[in-house]
Amino acid sequence: MKIDLDLKYENLIAALKSQAPFEPELALILGSGLGDFANSIEKELSIPTESLPDYPKSTVTGHKGFIHFGKFQNKNLILFQGRIHFYEGYSLEQVVLPVFIANSLNAKRIILTNAAGGINQNFKAGDLMLTTAFYPLFIKKELAGILGSPDVETKNRFLDFPSKKFNETIRNAAVQSKIYLREGSYWYSKGPNYETPAEIKMMLKFGAAAVGMSTVHEAITANYFGLQVAAISLITNLAAGISAEKLSHKEVMEAGEKAKPRFEKLIKSIIEFI
Ligand code: HPA
Repeated sequence: MKIDLDLKYENLIAALKSQAPFEPELALILGSGLGDFANSIEKELSIPTESLPDYPKSTVTGHKGFIHFGKFQNKNLILFQGRIHFYEGYSLEQVVLPVFIANSLNAKRIILTNAAGGINQNFKAGDLMLTTAFYPLFIKKELAGILGSPDVETKNRFLDFPSKKFNETIRNAAVQSKIYLREGSYWYSKGPNYETPAEIKMMLKFGAAAVGMSTVHEAITANYFGLQVAAISLITNLAAGISAEKLSHKEVMEAGEKAKPRFEKLIKSIIEFI
């Protein structure tokens, strides 16, 4: 049976609409380690998600979620800081809630960002990658409970993401801002554990360039609602078995930290371009 999100999150959307200073044109979901982007723009309103009815509570202590309404270059933005991951035990309707919110507030585009492991052997920790394709083959059926069965709702049958048009805008923005942007396909891995070298070998054979534990449910849902979807990964490490060196958590964190100014510059340039 299809879950009626409008009904389930009626109070939440009403609470947001009553506070929202504007209708956002672009939504951004800030992935692991990329939340600081929210500090770099002018914010009109920051709502702690724990104050919102029915918003999933964070499972990580001291890790607060925020929905920010902000502006950059006169463009109205909604930023989701603190992602809801499926591997943390949330239901799929909770995982895609930010996308549902963005759509309910009339956003037209969404950029999904994430931390990912590099499978492409030329990638390095700290690289930024524009997603050119996804591998959602293992999750489509699960989403039918939220988006409706494709047999009934034909709208859900066609997956037109990531948006070619939006990706072209992002490439132009990267060139303009002189940010080196890798490209490749993103393999969704359920997690919460990282992959085995054998799994990574398989993904490499199938042509995947990066692997991560998020984004794909959000992308399908945003596509279903008719938003233009793009996704950008920060390669925090080389995936299991790709590098001969054993990567430490410290190195992963450092790669993320080093990439932050580039990530910020790229996102700002994209906002200017749209
Ligand atoms: N695998 C899956 N998810 C990840 C990784 C990885 O190697 N790095 C960051 N997120």
